[in-house]
Amino acid sequence: MHAPAILIIHGPNLNLLGTREPEIYGHMTLDDINKAITELSGKLNIKTKIFQSNSEGNIIGLIQENRECSGLVINPGAYTHTSIAIADAIKGTGIPAVEVHLSNIHSREDYRKKSFIAPVCIGQISGFGYFSYLTGIEALHNYLTNLKTSGK
Ligand code: DQA
Repeated sequence: MHAPAILIIHGPNLNLLGTREPEIYGHMTLDDINKAITELSGKLNIKTKIFQSNSEGNIIGLIQENRECSGLVINPGAYTHTSIAIADAIKGTGIPAVEVHLSNIHSREDYRKKSFIAPVCIGQISGFGYFSYLTGIEALHNYLTNLKTSGK
């Protein structure tokens, strides 16, 4: 039997990557990032289910519908700083989650320093460009594997 997939959610405006403020977010497109994620999944021998949505309600729906996934790697975009509802969905489903950001949200505007999502996550990875996603997936995979082997 295969382990359930890891759910990857890209939040609002991340579909614009490649042309969106490249000095902050880099030149890679979302497709480029998704290819790197799929390549890493192959190496780790895990499955990933990848979605992008610009809508808070859709993101909440995706979390609820995919609650059987083994874990979640989410870049909530600007919803990071506003969405108690996404935080409640993560907490309410109990899905182990990692928050990731391309930019270092702590070195930018003050309003980006607050995350409503981080407190309901295992951890947060911020500032490594597309590598934040890859690091987040590896960290989550390691967390899930250790949980299983320790029987917790
Ligand atoms: C972001 C950081 C957010 O503050 C911003 O609103 C984004 C992208 C990042 O990946 O660096 O849309 O989540």
